[in-house]
Amino acid sequence: MRKKLNCETEKTNPFLIVKDIQKSFHHIQALRGVSMTAYEGEVLAIVGDNGAGKSTLIKIMSGVLSPDAGIIQISGERYKRLTPKLAGEIGVSTVYQDLALGNTMDVTANLFLGEEISKFGFLKKKEMNRQAEKLLIDLDINIPDVTVPVGNLSGGQRQGVAVARLVHRGGKLLIFDEPTAAMGVNESNAVLRLIKRLANQGYAVIVISHNMPQVFHVSDRICVMRQGRVMKELKTVDTTMDEVVSLITGSLNVE
Ligand SMILES: Nc1ncnc2c1ncn2[C@@H]1O[C@H](COP(=O)(O)OP(=O)(O)O)[C@@H](O)[C@H]1O
Ligand SMILES: [Mg+2]
Repeated sequence: MRKKLNCETEKTNPFLIVKDIQKSFHHIQALRGVSMTAYEGEVLAIVGDNGAGKSTLIKIMSGVLSPDAGIIQISGERYKRLTPKLAGEIGVSTVYQDLALGNTMDVTANLFLGEEISKFGFLKKKEMNRQAEKLLIDLDINIPDVTVPVGNLSGGQRQGVAVARLVHRGGKLLIFDEPTAAMGVNESNAVLRLIKRLANQGYAVIVISHNMPQVFHVSDRICVMRQGRVMKELKTVDTTMDEVVSLITGSLNVE
């Protein structure tokens, strides 16, 4: 995985490109030709009012929905549509709001779910604990004891476990849909730090959020969607919350 290039003028590799994606539900045109790129080493925020098409776009990227038209390009390969299985295999991972963790199972069991290490039919629990600890340390996720049930952890820590599991399964693009919606300030900050670290380690990250201060804190680029279209793509350092909010609501017309 490529290190983030610490230079404004140089882009890292595009991991995912979608081009002219269209999607209708009966007579509702949810996406009217959406193009977007997610780069390795970068946090891309997607913002927009309810109904703008954000979730539909994310579902197409992760193979949950098939587009009516358009192209999805991942690591240079072009696809007309994905399935969740294929998306996972080629590194597209979505961190769902419910996190899909087993709360009564410990951290290690969650990280290795379905991919347990065993020898002669016996689980190699010590080896799995050791690998779980290393995985968490590499991602700088602070969980002192991997043998505690995930249900006993804080919301931020649980999010960390969910992310570590996706990385363990080969995730290269991590998509977060409103990751801090149900969290307090401290936990939100921990999740935002994790998101930034993932980008710094070379992962591509997409975050959907309504929280403008968080969007500005965490993102490198902001893509504003409205009524199924991308209104504007902005570099975070070059814009303001006023401008972004105006683009979201439609009070600012795009030239
Ligand atoms: N499964 C569906 N069936 C019918 N309409 C849908 C479905 N999913 C989304 N839509 C419609 O598509 C539009 C975009 O929705 P969505 O992608 O959820 O927007 P956002 O996530 O930005 O709030 C909305 O008008 C929504 O009502
Ligand atoms: Mg949504």
